[in-house]
Amino acid sequence: MKGTIMRRTTVIAALAAVGLTLSACGDDGESTSGDGNGNGGGEVEVFTWWAEGSEKAGLDALVEVFQEQHPDYEFVNGAVAGGAGSNAKNVLASRLQTNDPPETFQAHAGAELTDYIEANQVQDISNLYDENGWSDVFPEDLLELLTVDGAIYSVPSNIHRANVVWANPTVLEQAGIDPATPPASLDEWFTQLDAVQASGATALSIGTDWTQVHLLETVLLADLGPEAYIGLWDGSTDWASPEVEAALDDYAKLLEYTNTDRQNLDWPDATQQIIDGKAAYNVMGDWAEAAFQEQQQKFGTDYVAFPVPGTDGVFDFLADSFTLPVGDINTGGTEAWLDTIASPEGQKAFNLAKGSIPARTDVDASEYPEYQQTAIESFANDTIVPSLAHGAATPVAWLDAVTQAVSRFSANGNVDDLKSGLADAAANNLQQEG
Ligand code: GAL
Repeated sequence: MKGTIMRRTTVIAALAAVGLTLSACGDDGESTSGDGNGNGGGEVEVFTWWAEGSEKAGLDALVEVFQEQHPDYEFVNGAVAGGAGSNAKNVLASRLQTNDPPETFQAHAGAELTDYIEANQVQDISNLYDENGWSDVFPEDLLELLTVDGAIYSVPSNIHRANVVWANPTVLEQAGIDPATPPASLDEWFTQLDAVQASGATALSIGTDWTQVHLLETVLLADLGPEAYIGLWDGSTDWASPEVEAALDDYAKLLEYTNTDRQNLDWPDATQQIIDGKAAYNVMGDWAEAAFQEQQQKFGTDYVAFPVPGTDGVFDFLADSFTLPVGDINTGGTEAWLDTIASPEGQKAFNLAKGSIPARTDVDASEYPEYQQTAIESFANDTIVPSLAHGAATPVAWLDAVTQAVSRFSANGNVDDLKSGLADAAANNLQQEG
């Protein structure tokens, strides 16, 4: 119960943080070819960034269910590679600007989806929720992140947790660390990172810009705690405060333990270093679980996972969802895809393969592997906060500004520049929202 109450409070705070005071968006989307019931046939272009590896395996599992449930439709893969949509979001933005929408696209629940709603690029699908009773099968808190002024704009496919450390027990043991007792604080973690570094292995594997933003958000969360972390996104936590500056110093320190080729790697490469025994720790969302599973790694033996030190009891949340874009599209095809996304079969097939947990509430946790069972449990009981790197906390423009500051820091190592870059990003975006 406590978890539920806290969850409601924090998600609502997160909503406030992203300024959900929009006026109702008109629905002037035109569409073609569908009969409104998902039976018209034709092509359905699905735009995601699940283009390779375990992410593509997740998409493939979903497509298989789609083809069983809606054999009249032909799935067209519009995926653009690059973790966290690092390339896809730009491609999508220009397609939407030039009136070339796919039948549906992936969007994160929360502020990112709100961007598309504000730009009038997605349609209200409340009628589908009413017709199919979907409001009863998804958690209310999640639906709030898909809703503006009473209208719902997308269907959630999954829930991911961002604040997870993945570690290789053999590499830890070689450094004299007991894998069964994860560090409880960042300070304890620094001691262990020193030990790994002394043993010759990479202490903390990481990839390019967006994976660094991902690490940064978890350090902010660890040092500030959930309430002040949420305050970063609504202006109630001062980016120039000593607490935030101390967190950014911790982030800078953590980066010293990472691989020097980080700018060339995406998340699968960085996580692979754990699987290959080249690195001890990697901070990544729980789509990493799918990579371990795909390579037959055994949870607890070949790899261990624990909350980023200092964030135990907090679930750094994100959810993918699918939209009905405004424009000249095969609406029946979109509705068929959304029907599969919402169905128990679609959710199960996808989430089993993706490392995520189902957005639907009527799931049998025992059907999921061990790691996902821990995530289901944490989501039910922990304090929920919105992810920065994955569209829940801020509009895309703010995330882009953060990413630029983080990327500059990776190149120049100037922590004062990082601090002022992040404070400026917050000031500029909060001003625009205000
Ligand atoms: C997230 C997305 C996840 C996963 C990850 C890495 O933004 O929500 O489903 O794909 O990026 O690409």
